[in-house]
Amino acid sequence: MNADSPTASSLDGQIALVTGATRGIGRAIALGLAQAGAHVIACGRTQGALEALDDEIRGLGVASATLVPLDLADGDGVDRLGGVIHERWGRLDVLISAAGLLGATTPVAHLDPKVWDQVMAVNLTANYRLIRSMDPLLRCADAGRAVFLTSGAATSPRAFWGPYAASKAGLNALAAVYADEIEHTPVRVAVVNPGPMRTRMRAQAFPGEDPMTLPEPAEIVPLILELLDRERAPAPGVVSFPQWTSARTA
Ligand SMILES: NC(=O)c1ccc[n+]([C@@H]2O[C@H](COP(=O)([O-])OP(=O)(O)OC[C@H]3O[C@@H](n4cnc5c(N)ncnc54)[C@H](OP(=O)(O)O)[C@@H]3O)[C@@H](O)[C@H]2O)c1
Repeated sequence: MNADSPTASSLDGQIALVTGATRGIGRAIALGLAQAGAHVIACGRTQGALEALDDEIRGLGVASATLVPLDLADGDGVDRLGGVIHERWGRLDVLISAAGLLGATTPVAHLDPKVWDQVMAVNLTANYRLIRSMDPLLRCADAGRAVFLTSGAATSPRAFWGPYAASKAGLNALAAVYADEIEHTPVRVAVVNPGPMRTRMRAQAFPGEDPMTLPEPAEIVPLILELLDRERAPAPGVVSFPQWTSARTA
């Protein structure tokens, strides 16, 4: 992607919170937003990976980052983050919710309750807490945008993916409810299914798969930039990256 590409958009001066920014899709989006000029508030638990991202963003020479080591299962921590963003910037232009985990792939009847709770905490409850804490800040922006990363498993559940599929189905419903609630504000919501991507989560889910057959996370950045366009509302429902790609190349 470069500044002249048809899908590039300038996010100069925008404040963008990205969860899951330490690796995979969230990291690629964080870099893409920084490249488009946004100040990225990068969130994840792995301090070293946040620092490596910060180095890479500084290296771009166009934007900066604020690093937030945070376990998203800590709802009070999410509230504190909202308070800090309010104090420092008074608004949030972009929320990208990319953090997620697969959890154990095992029959529901055999599932450890701790795994269920952990997956629900990060994939579903954290999104409720993010909406709760960030909605007032998104409303303070000219055209706040919230993008949630879902999965095809939400609507096509498969055996052994119980907590992941249920949490993503819950996320789809939660995001749709939120989108309906803020219809009369300038805030807009997008839900994106990235499809299979070359990340640690995918490798955990399909260990026998050749990762080189999968798209790199950076390939989703033009779609995300398109969804952040202030001039047009994102399409309702779930936006499928594979379908978006096919439509562009058809
Ligand atoms: N890759 C795919 O093929 C695919 C397909 C469909 C949907 N998705 C969705 O796309 C999103 C990104 O997935 P990915 O493949 O990029 O996954 P990934 O490479 O495993 O990265 C997951 C990210 O989530 C963060 N995270 C996990 N637990 C967390 C917690 N408790 N608190 C804070 N951050 C946490 C991780 O950061 P730390 O470990 O540093 O905290 C990491 O940055 C997910 O929502 C996933 O469900 C991915």
